[in-house]
Amino acid sequence: MRILVTGGAGFLGSHLIDRLMTAGHEVICLDNFYTGNKRNIQQWLDNHNFELIRHDITEPIRLEVDQIYHLACPASPVHYQYNPVKTVKTNVMGTLNMLGLAKRVKARFFLASTSEVYGDPDVHPQSEEYRGNVNPIGLRACYDEGKRIAETLAFDYYRQNKVDIRVVRIFNTYGPRMLENDGRVVSNFIVQALQGKPLTVYGDGSQTRSFCYASDLIEGFIRLMNSDYVGPVNIGNPGEYTILQLAEAVRDMINPNAEIIHEPLPSDDPRRRRPDITKAKTLLDWEPTVPLAEGLKLTVEDFRKRMGNAPI
Ligand SMILES: NC(=O)c1ccc[n+]([C@@H]2O[C@H](COP(=O)([O-])OP(=O)(O)OC[C@H]3O[C@@H](n4cnc5c(N)ncnc54)[C@H](O)[C@@H]3O)[C@@H](O)[C@H]2O)c1
Repeated sequence: MRILVTGGAGFLGSHLIDRLMTAGHEVICLDNFYTGNKRNIQQWLDNHNFELIRHDITEPIRLEVDQIYHLACPASPVHYQYNPVKTVKTNVMGTLNMLGLAKRVKARFFLASTSEVYGDPDVHPQSEEYRGNVNPIGLRACYDEGKRIAETLAFDYYRQNKVDIRVVRIFNTYGPRMLENDGRVVSNFIVQALQGKPLTVYGDGSQTRSFCYASDLIEGFIRLMNSDYVGPVNIGNPGEYTILQLAEAVRDMINPNAEIIHEPLPSDDPRRRRPDITKAKTLLDWEPTVPLAEGLKLTVEDFRKRMGNAPI
C-alpha cells in the first residue's frame, strides 16, 4: 500500500514509519519539521519506497495514497503553547485538509487523538464513553480543544462523506527519539539525571500518569488501522505511577545520588490519568507488553547516545 504519515519526522511518526517500511509498504512522510527531525527518518532517505515532503498541513496538498496516518501536531506543552494559534490551525485546518484528501482519494484516515480530550477527568480510569472535563479557555485548550474538534471533524466526514476513519486516543507515550527539550516528564527526568542535576517534580509528586512504550503504542495503531472498528479507542499502558515514583526510578537507573526537588504545579495539570483499555483488549486483542523498567532502560540508552554522555 502507499501510506501517508503526517508528522512522520516526529517521535511517534518515525517509529510508525519504521514499522510500515519494514512491512514493505510505500511510505510518504510529510512534515514541516517544527518538532520533527530528519535524523529520525535518516535510515529510509535512500530507500526507493520512501518519500519525504516538507509541507505544512495547514496548506492543502494533493497526493495519491491508500491510507493516511494523521499525526502532525506538536505534542508537548512547551511546543504547542509556543504558538497556540498555530496549534489550533494545525488541528483544525490541518485535519480538514487531510480529511479532504482522504475523501478525494478514498483513503482510510487514522487520527492520532489524545487522552487530553478527557481534560482533568472526574472519572477514573477513563473509558472512551467519558466526555471529558476540559477548560476551553485554559493554556492547554489550543491542544485539548484542538484535538476534540479534530475528532469532531473526523466523525462528521465519516457520517457525511463516508470517509473511512479510525480514531485513537493516545495516553502518555515514551521511548527513544523523544526530544530532549520537550518538557515532558520522562525526558525531563532523564536529561536532568544525565546532566547530574536535581530532578524537578511539580507539586508533591502524588499526581499519577501511565506510561506506554513507543513500540507497544505503534502495534496498537497498526491493529486499529487494519480492524473494522472506527473508534475512538484508548491506547496506553494502564500501569499507574506517581510522578515521584517515576523520578525515583529514573534517578536509580542513572544517578542514585541525584536530588529530587519540588516546584509549584502548572495550571490545568491533570491530577490523574489512566486508560481503560477494555476496548483495545477486546476489539483489537491489544495490550502493552513492555514493562516500565525495560522501556526506561532503552530510552535512557538512546538519550545517552544523543547527549554524548558516558555512564555516570
Ligand atoms: N507522545 C505522546 O505521548 C502523545 C500523546 C497523545 C497524543 N499524541 C499525538 O501523537 C502525534 C505525534 O506526537 P509525537 O509525540 O510524535 O510529537 P512530535 O512533536 O514528536 O511529532 C509531531 C510531528 O508533527 C510535525 N508537525 C507539527 N505541526 C505540523 C504542521 N503544521 N505541518 C506539518 N507537520 C507538522 C512536527 O514537525 C513533528 O515531526 C501528535 O498528533 C500528538 O498530539 C502523542
